[in-house]
Amino acid sequence: MTEPLLSVEELSISFPSVAGSVRVVDGISFSVGREVVALVGESGSGKSMTGRAIMGLLPRSAAVSAKRLAFDGQDLTTLSPSGWNAIRGDGIGLILQDPKYSLNPAHKVGRQVEEALLLHTRLSSSERRERALDMLSRVGLADPMRVYGSYPAALSGGMGQRVMIAAMLINRPKLLIADEPTSALDRNLQDQILTLLRSLTEELGMGLLLISHDLQQVSRYADRVMVMRHGHIEDQMASADLSHAKSAYTRALWAARPSAATYGTQLPVYGDEP
Ligand SMILES: Nc1ncnc2c1ncn2[C@@H]1O[C@H](COP(=O)(O)OP(=O)(O)OP(=O)(O)O)[C@@H](O)[C@H]1O
Ligand SMILES: [Mg+2]
Repeated sequence: MTEPLLSVEELSISFPSVAGSVRVVDGISFSVGREVVALVGESGSGKSMTGRAIMGLLPRSAAVSAKRLAFDGQDLTTLSPSGWNAIRGDGIGLILQDPKYSLNPAHKVGRQVEEALLLHTRLSSSERRERALDMLSRVGLADPMRVYGSYPAALSGGMGQRVMIAAMLINRPKLLIADEPTSALDRNLQDQILTLLRSLTEELGMGLLLISHDLQQVSRYADRVMVMRHGHIEDQMASADLSHAKSAYTRALWAARPSAATYGTQLPVYGDEP
């Protein structure tokens, strides 16, 4: 069997606390190939810390250990700072929840979309511009030229999120980690962006790790789902098998689809009994 794109074995992450330390990710193992895998769980279950560990972007106070953390055959646990730079430049991309915090308001969109090309390739400025315009149109922006020359403040939330995706994909990463990439958007736009991510994943032959708290929603776009709870992977299965999940917790999450009435509120936290 060929090596998956990403292999994670016994990853643990702890933070110092008054009681000594608290383990927020507790020995999880999983892999991601060229497929869409959803990582789902309630708030605080450790999803974002898992995603950030794969990018080498944990807070300084975090203590991390893993038996194996490998991307595309490279051992991430012994990577140098310049090795991380190379991986972040064209190996793994990360999309965060809110483009407002990820796009720099002082620079035009074009420059920000091209940044990875500037840092990690030797393309000329006209080649960079051509690639950026192509990517802006691939992410479904109707007028790429206009968006290219705009400042982020001139964009709607959905356009901003598409620009973020374009900036992340321009250097063709092999793996994209999308941490709640649509939670700042309205429902209709969420589905548009998830559809786009799914089709770009197939078109570019990438792997996508899709982090979310909405199991019902992401299962429509993911090949597989992993359900995370209290720092563990409680359950995992093909999306198609979710409706007859054995774990009571998975079934409860499956039933707890956020509605318009609960939008923006936290999901219920279930008791510890299985
Ligand atoms: N810098 C930090 N110091 C101490 N604890 C932290 C820090 N960052 C996160 N944590 C704790 O780690 C745990 C996991 O956090 P994480 O952000 O991974 O959760 P999550 O599953 O992404 O939740 P959400 O759905 O709310 O985004 C939480 O209990 C959180 O309080
Ligand atoms: Mg999170």
